Amino acid sequence: MILLTGGCGYLGSHCAVELLNNGYEIIIIDNFSNSDKNIHKHIEYIAKKKVKLIECDIRDRKKLDDIFFNNKIESVFHFAGLKSISDSFNKPKDYYSVNIIGTAVLLELMVKYCVSKIIFSSSATIYSDYSKLPWHEKIELKIPESPYAQSKVIIEKLLKNFSLNHNFLKVAILRYFNPVGAHHSGLIGENSTNSTNLFPEIIKYLNNEIPHINIYGNNFDTHDGYGVRDYIHVSDLINGHIEALNFILKHNKTYNYDVWNLGSGKGRSVLEIINAFEKKLNRKLKYVIKPRRKGDLGQYWADINKAKRELGWDPKKTLNEIVEDSLMNLKE
Ligand code: NAD
Ligand code: UD1
Repeated sequence: MILLTGGCGYLGSHCAVELLNNGYEIIIIDNFSNSDKNIHKHIEYIAKKKVKLIECDIRDRKKLDDIFFNNKIESVFHFAGLKSISDSFNKPKDYYSVNIIGTAVLLELMVKYCVSKIIFSSSATIYSDYSKLPWHEKIELKIPESPYAQSKVIIEKLLKNFSLNHNFLKVAILRYFNPVGAHHSGLIGENSTNSTNLFPEIIKYLNNEIPHINIYGNNFDTHDGYGVRDYIHVSDLINGHIEALNFILKHNKTYNYDVWNLGSGKGRSVLEIINAFEKKLNRKLKYVIKPRRKGDLGQYWADINKAKRELGWDPKKTLNEIVEDSLMNLKE
């Protein structure tokens, strides 16, 4: 059985569906701080299977201990955490507590119950001040600025230490670039209420919840002056998790710890994204150029050769498909 922490969130819910479709038995825990209990029903509806869900904060050692005691958990996909860079500057303690302490509690219990495999959601933001592109896994990590990114660096170190100290423990760290899009059913997707990321903002605009899209800067040192990112469709990203699990299972005897970037390997500017939506919708979108956001980098994208080579993983979705699936989250 696979335990999904944060399994009702954006990425966790997509992973839950994919694991169920691949015949895995799963159990979800979530404290619903950034998700809705209905998502559980949607996961069951899409996958046509019953799923065990337990409301639990990953820092609640007692409750988590009971969950490990009562279920035959073999692997953990660890999605639970706080994820907003800007929010983390306002509430650093929450980010250290949920992300770092939460992971430490989880690891402690994995060791107690001899649960051997963990796949962890890390982020490209940990490379933050590195200027040479594309970003690859060998870049030496420095202490990043945001408490969010700091928490990810510390967790990666914690995971490495645990894997060194406990031979049976197998750790896969996946560094996500910009996951976007949604399941084509439109029943699961990113919670746009609390998000200020580009794609949820475009969806809010299309839902008439905001009068225009703000574009933060058009004078970056990029091919068209707009910020460039590596947007990856959520289904490609989740396939990377399945491949990582397969890789661990295949190399079970020798595997201990490794890190892979998951991105599309392509940089796309904000204007190119807006244009892609305009083309799909056959209408102009209203946007206003605003000053750059604090800490925003001009451009970055992933070197994904390691994941391609070692995991046999290859992202497939085109930008057109990404836009099409993102539109499934429109309210109508
Ligand atoms: P999300 O907020 O949609 O999902 C996280 C889930 O964890 C939510 O359902 C939330 O309720 C739950 N949660 C939060 N704190 C919890 C706690 N203390 N105990 C139990 N559950 C808790 O976020 P997401 O986009 O699905 O991201 C999942 C993971 O991937 C996070 O660790 C995030 O940092 C990482 N990540 C996300 C992105 C992205 O752009 N979405 C990029 C890089 C890394
Ligand atoms: C950041 C993190 C990344 C994390 C992601 C999701 C860094 C370096 N990256 O990505 O690790 O996975 O958040 O939490 O910190 N933009 C607009 N208007 C908007 C919103 C965004 O123009 O309303 C622009 C931004 O300036 C940027 C691009 O769109 O150029 C993408 O921004 P966003 O979706 O917020 O993600 P990042 O900041 O790249």
